[in-house]
Amino acid sequence: MTPALQISGLRVDIGGQTILGGIDLVVAPGEAVALVGESGSGKSMTLRAIAGLLPSSGRATGSIRLDGAELNELSVRARRRAVSEAVGMVFQDPREAINPVRTIGDFLTEALILARGVSQKDAGVRARGVLRDVGIADAATRMEQYPHQLSGGLLQRVMIASVLLAEPKIVLADEPTTALDVITQEEVVAILDARRREHGMAMVFVSHDLDLAAAITDRTAVMRAGELVEEGASATLHKQAQHPYTRALLAARPVLAPPSDPTQEIRDVC
Ligand SMILES: Nc1ncnc2c1ncn2[C@@H]1O[C@H](COP(=O)(O)OP(=O)(O)O)[C@@H](O)[C@H]1O
Ligand SMILES: [Mg+2]
Repeated sequence: MTPALQISGLRVDIGGQTILGGIDLVVAPGEAVALVGESGSGKSMTLRAIAGLLPSSGRATGSIRLDGAELNELSVRARRRAVSEAVGMVFQDPREAINPVRTIGDFLTEALILARGVSQKDAGVRARGVLRDVGIADAATRMEQYPHQLSGGLLQRVMIASVLLAEPKIVLADEPTTALDVITQEEVVAILDARRREHGMAMVFVSHDLDLAAAITDRTAVMRAGELVEEGASATLHKQAQHPYTRALLAARPVLAPPSDPTQEIRDVC
């Protein structure tokens, strides 16, 4: 089967500095892979290189295939199109990714109407449907609102809803819950995980939280200083980590005590 994503020898240099030193990674259709590693190890740059979102002084070499298509053989325009068709991105902070002066409804329906020729009415129906899928009950009201009227957790659900609407082959999620409070983090991860499985989308899930990443992925790839140092089944990485760096990362995990009464937690108001 053609991999959803196949990266070979991906190297990124910025201003003469090597940021990624030759990454190899294959993600099968429907497979979820975690990309973990300490801050600065190159996780975000890997996703940005795939999406063609490197800083202007950045230079990428090597091969990136999305659903079989070699991106480096495409013109800038064709590449942008291939990425927008095959990839759904979820960022750490949804506020940076959603235009603040457009309504949630416009944000969700725009691509359907412009790129896919869906009628405004049908796009609205679909958008309300996916908002409900990600646990937003008052979808019609939310469609009329602006990003600043929604909490971070709600906005990240909207982001996930927009990815679902686009039906990408692969979701690239870059620490999608880091900006959220703990309880909302769990809810958002659960929604992303469940909907991804349901829709059969592949995913690369970037996180510095090994436990969280392992819980919702099949495989974990460990990055250090721009290199992939270890790869293994997420379920057994704890027991079978070979690389001293992976073992150090695992040993450095914070152990969180469960809240004494979870119902008393301040919840992200939905
Ligand atoms: N715009 C940039 N210009 C130059 N170097 C950058 C830029 N952004 C990030 N870097 C460097 O690239 C490396 C990898 O960063 P990044 O991929 O953001 O790490 P991670 O997501 O794993 O925390 C770091 O050394 C960082 O300092
Ligand atoms: Mg990052």
